[in-house]
Amino acid sequence: MKMQAFTHYTPTEIVFGKASEDRVAELAKKYHGSRVFVVYGGGSVVKSGLLGRVTGTLEAAGLKVETIGGVKPNPRLDFAREAVQKAVEFQADLILAVGGGSVIDTAKAVSHGAANPDTDIWEFWSRKKKVEKTLPVGVILTLAAAGSETSDSAVLTNTEIQVKRGLSTDLNRPEFAIMNPELTYTLPKYQVGCGIVDIMMHTLDRYFTKTKGNQLTDEIAEGLLRTVIANGRIAIQDSHNYESMSEIMWCGSISHNGLTGLGAEKDFAPHQLGHELSAKFDIAHGASLSAVWGAWAEYSYMEDVDRFVRFADKVWGISGDNKEEVARKAINATVNYFKLLDMPTCFSEAKEIGLKTEDELWTMADGCSYKDTRTIGAFRVLNKEDIFNVY
Ligand code: NZQ
Repeated sequence: MKMQAFTHYTPTEIVFGKASEDRVAELAKKYHGSRVFVVYGGGSVVKSGLLGRVTGTLEAAGLKVETIGGVKPNPRLDFAREAVQKAVEFQADLILAVGGGSVIDTAKAVSHGAANPDTDIWEFWSRKKKVEKTLPVGVILTLAAAGSETSDSAVLTNTEIQVKRGLSTDLNRPEFAIMNPELTYTLPKYQVGCGIVDIMMHTLDRYFTKTKGNQLTDEIAEGLLRTVIANGRIAIQDSHNYESMSEIMWCGSISHNGLTGLGAEKDFAPHQLGHELSAKFDIAHGASLSAVWGAWAEYSYMEDVDRFVRFADKVWGISGDNKEEVARKAINATVNYFKLLDMPTCFSEAKEIGLKTEDELWTMADGCSYKDTRTIGAFRVLNKEDIFNVY
């Protein structure tokens, strides 16, 4: 399979660098915001003073502001519904996310809900309805990880039915993203690690593809992986290193805006395997990915061992005569890197994951395969039994 036809659409205006959040009012106005509904998380932006500065800047520029805080990691549908109602009452015309991926995804949900007040937002996530219109979303990013600041997707968890599901549509692309690496200095080490894993996985889940002959896309992916790996080693020790946090932040956006997989079929099986873990155990997204990737890779590499050999060479500088050995060394190098970040690399290393019996594993496989009605992945297509085997 050669390079496939593609459309590349990344309309988000990116304003990157120190003090870039000072431009929030200018950008809100540019995207027709006069009543700005600000969404934030569990309080890190209150503590750091960022929220107060942002609302102050908006109000000083004559904009009306309403806020809602309390988005949890693995953001909940219930909370998003509540926020939609508040945004509608406020007659919001721009939704501003101040936070990480969970806050941004909730803001995206609010934008769809407020533009379609007669529709329950889960109808969009459960594919019953298509999003046809939405409100503009702006972002002030505080965590480099999910790439939601430029991505076309948003992930919500419906706790009633223990389902975590993504929705992809170009209407999920934010209008603008303000990215000041200094805003990530307050991150706990664990979140820095989760972020690095997620950034790597957005590229790896595209890189492991059966599509061949995609030179530029492959080189971009490999360059990104080398960059995030090298800077991750520094950032995990020192989250105040501006250069490394900048590189990682930029990698986060590029990794998930489509560029690292253009023209190729995407895999994304590890993401699907991880979502099931987060839905059941509320484990952080990055940790769910590091916990499954090694097992997925071991299970899948013989589908195209040459792809893993290229990965070994270009990303890890590993070569040799025995292809299988080289591929396995690259898998080990990746897993060891996750360990260096203090991320779990199997279920028993993740304290949140309380799986005890084989039956529970089958239940997970059942959930991930939507009760055996779908397969996941494209590099190696996984059915329910495969999913069980990887778990
Ligand atoms: O809630 P607060 O108090 O802000 O604390 C957060 C949260 O506890 C904290 N944090 C964020 N910025 C901080 C900070 N703490 C101190 N200083 C800062 N500067 O970090 C914790 C995790 O935040 P969260 O937003 O959940 O993390 P992340 O950005 O990793 O987002 C994860 C969510 O994004 C989804 C994941 O599934 C998960 O639900 N994803 C979204 C994608 C997309 N929309 O394109 C793609 C991704 O693959 C991913 O699936």
